[in-house]
Parts: sequence; C-alpha cells; structure tokens
Amino acid sequence: MRRGGWIGAAGAGVLALAAGDLWAQDATKTVWDGVYTEAQAERGHVAYGQSCANCHGQQLAGTGEAKPLAGPEFLSNWSGLTMADLFDRTRTTMPLDRPATLSRDAYADVLAYVLKFNGFPAGGTELARRSEMLATIRIEAERPAGAADATGAGKLAAANEPVVAPNSQPNPYVADAGFLKLPAGRTMGSSSAVAVDSRGHIWIAERCGANNCAGSALDPILEFDAKGNFIKAFGAGLLLFPHGMFIDAKDHIWLTDGHSEPGKGAQVFEFDNTGKVLRTLGKAGVSAEGPDTFAEPNAVVVAPNGMIFVADGHTPGKAPARIVKFDAAGKFLKQWGVRGAAAGELEVPHTLALDSRGRLFVGDRWNNRISIFDQEGRFLQTWSQFGRPSGLYIDRNDVLYVADSESREPQGYGYHPGWKRGIRVGSARTGEVTAYIPDTEPNPDKGATSGAEGIWVDSKGVIYGAQVLQKSVVRYTRK
Ligand code: HEC
Repeated sequence: MRRGGWIGAAGAGVLALAAGDLWAQDATKTVWDGVYTEAQAERGHVAYGQSCANCHGQQLAGTGEAKPLAGPEFLSNWSGLTMADLFDRTRTTMPLDRPATLSRDAYADVLAYVLKFNGFPAGGTELARRSEMLATIRIEAERPAGAADATGAGKLAAANEPVVAPNSQPNPYVADAGFLKLPAGRTMGSSSAVAVDSRGHIWIAERCGANNCAGSALDPILEFDAKGNFIKAFGAGLLLFPHGMFIDAKDHIWLTDGHSEPGKGAQVFEFDNTGKVLRTLGKAGVSAEGPDTFAEPNAVVVAPNGMIFVADGHTPGKAPARIVKFDAAGKFLKQWGVRGAAAGELEVPHTLALDSRGRLFVGDRWNNRISIFDQEGRFLQTWSQFGRPSGLYIDRNDVLYVADSESREPQGYGYHPGWKRGIRVGSARTGEVTAYIPDTEPNPDKGATSGAEGIWVDSKGVIYGAQVLQKSVVRYTRK
C-alpha cells in the first residue's frame, strides 16, 4: 500500500522505475548508517542552491507544485525505497526544466545534502554515484532499533512530529488586551518582552511608546501588579531596543538590547526589582560576535544553577546565529551554532527556554522550527509542529507555549505556507500540540509581524503575549 501510495504521490515520472528492482530487499544498510560525508553535503548544498532551490525552496520545504524534499511528507513518500530509486528519479526528471543536466557526482552531492537536511547522520564514505551501490542503502524515516548514530546528533525531525493539521487545535482561552493600566500620559509601545515574577507581578519592556527607544527619555521597563495596576518604571536612557526578557529564580530581571549605536546597545542587562543594574554582559555599543560582545542579542535565560544562555543574531542571512553560554559569574564558557538550515544549524535564534530536564529550546525562527540542545550545545531534536517561533516559554510542568508572529503564505519574509500565526500550547516532553490561539490580525500576509512575539505564563497558567505590531500586552485566561 505504501509503495502504491508513493507512486501515486510522486507522479507518472516514476512509473518506469517501478518495473525495475525497486523494492529494498537487497539493501544492506540504511540512511542511518552514515552514508555520505559532511564535505559532500557541503558541496551538495552549493549545487542545490544553484539547481534546485528556486523551485524546492532554500529550506527544502517545496514551493507550489515542487514538493518538499524534507520532512514527513517527503520521508513517507520514500521510506522503504532505496537511495538508487531516489537518485534515478531525481537524475532522470530533475531539474524539471532540464533533466539529467548535472553530473552523476553532482546528483549524489545534492542527495547527500538532502539526507543531511532531513537529519540523517554523516559518516566516513561518500554517497556513491552509481545506482548499483545506491541500491544497497534503504531509506528509513525512523531509525531502526540498534542502528549506530554516527554523529551523536542527527535525530530525525519527523519522528518527533505528530502529523496533524497545523492550525486545528482548539482554543480554550479568552483574550483581554486592555488589562494593563499604564500611568497617565503614557502609551504603550511595541513590545516583545514580558515576564512574571514570583509575586505574580507582571514586568514588560516596551519600546518607549514607539518601536525604538533611541533618543527617548521614557522608562521602558514597567512593573504592574497581578491585576494590571501600574507600580513603577525605570530604565530611561539605558536601552535602544528592548527585546528579550527573563526573570530568574531571584526575581532578577534580565533584558537584551538588540540594537546598537556608539556607546549604547548590544548588551544584556541584569536588574534587581528596584531597577538597579546588577550587571551587564557585552560591551555597550560594540555589535560584534565575540566572547564578551554580542552582535544582536535576542534572548537570555538563566538556568537554576546560574548558567546564562544568550541567543545572538537577529538578521537572517547574516552571522552570527549562535548560543553563548556563561557561568553564573558571567564568565564566557562556550558558544555554538552556525548559520544554516540543516538539522542543528540555526538562522535567527530568536528566543530561548529551558525545560525541567535542562534542555535548551531555541526558537530557530528563520527555519520555522524549534531546535533542542543540551546545555553543552549538543543538538538533540528539531520540532516544527509549534510553528515559526518568535517567543517560547516552558512552565514547571513542561507545558510549552510558543508565539508565532510571522508565518506568511506568500514567498519572501516569513514564508511558511499552511501555518497561521498565534500561540500554540503543548508538551515539551512529547512534542504534542494541544491548543492553538489564533492571531486576530485580519491580513497577516501584509506585514512581517502581528500577534505575540514575547510570551510568559504565570503560575496559574495565565498567558501574557507581548505584541510588536499591535503595541499591546494581551492576557489569555482559560475559558
Ligand atoms: C523548475 C522547477 C524545479 C527544479 C529546478 C527542480 N525541481 Fe524537483 N520537482 C519539481 C516539481 C514541479 C516536482 C513535482 C512534480 C514531479 O514529481 O515531477 C518535483 C519533484 C521532485 C522530487 C520528487 C519528490 C517526491 O517526494 O515525490 C524530487 C526528489 C526532486 N524534485 C528533486 C529535485 C532536485 C534534487 C533538484 C535539483 C537538482 C530539483 N528537483 C530541481 C520542480 C523542480
């Protein structure tokens, strides 16, 4: 049945192959056995960019008729067949407008990249260019029990992603956009930063009544009680573009400043709840990738043991895209992350959260996914079922809340067809998505952002979403 389904799905171009020795009986290994090399996948990445990406997309997600070459649909089409089947099908029919125009080596390289992108591990030998050799490698969506994991990484995304319609979960929440009472004369600016302290007080950092604090004398950091009554504000003149907020176990308020100008910005601040600056990381006004500088710090989280993690790099297509780890004293320990779309690579690490096991969830926004790492930077898993993440929050019971403020249908910025913006709620343990709060913007495709970018959840399960476009912090309570 599966094979028939594949032929149906893949179209008439493959029928000729069906007569051949397609079925994978003779295969002696699988794609989990390290059947290509990193260098080959790198070459394949370049060739893919030249010959395939214009139709199948930079992220292999497919466009229009050109199908995805990564993810559950692609893998279920090909699972059970061999690399020879995939190779021959690709070589004889692709690129669609000029089939068989690449060398056999180039086709092998491109498929090595496709394997890497799908999360299969690299190994010591190159993927062969001859069909007889390729026929010995079976495509298996899920790793066979006992198969060696050549890289220690390479977990298959699809295996962790329940295949359900992306916007179909129920919305058990009611929204209240007007609960925060700002001081007289003060209007709310754009915000991506909200957090709640141990007393239930709500802290936000907004962009000085506008979408930027440069030149403003307003206090961007505001404290409210649990009912939304204003308590105090501070931080005037300190920040240009408050971006990511975190409140640690000591109720210290951590905030990143994503912009820089001479003498200001590109820093991470730690405040106590009186507004005193306890420490800064990075150098004021020095936007650079370094052990003691940040380019565009997006987000910060502090682990219960005091370890500090900062996500750096906001501009797609531009380095860095890294996670920087500091010890509790603020000493640089390590960094990881290279720009790219393959499993474990990052492109705009926009938001961070830690689960109860200490796993670091990175909202890899440009890649429309969450990438999960251990605290040493070892890549564990990719999850795409929570949408395009701008904000992440994980509560003490490992409920995961993800704010998608960018998914768009048309090609270009935010391209994520089939996915709607809003907040998805699910499990950081199983990856299941259980609730979906749709964004209320009527024309999301017209702009790059709408709805919550920053997200936090209090101890009673009340969600707070900080919005850039609507310049508001919205509270969501259970119906
Ligand atoms: C001009 C657009 C175009 C280009 C360029 C192109 N493809 Fe395709 N590709 C398509 C379309 C359309 C389909 C679906 C129709 C079909 O199956 O023939 C497709 C289907 C495929 C499939 C089958 C997917 C499946 O699961 O059934 C593979 C594999 C594939 N392409 C690989 C490639 C590779 C590798 C390259 C680059 C060497 C490439 N394509 C370049 C348009 C293109």
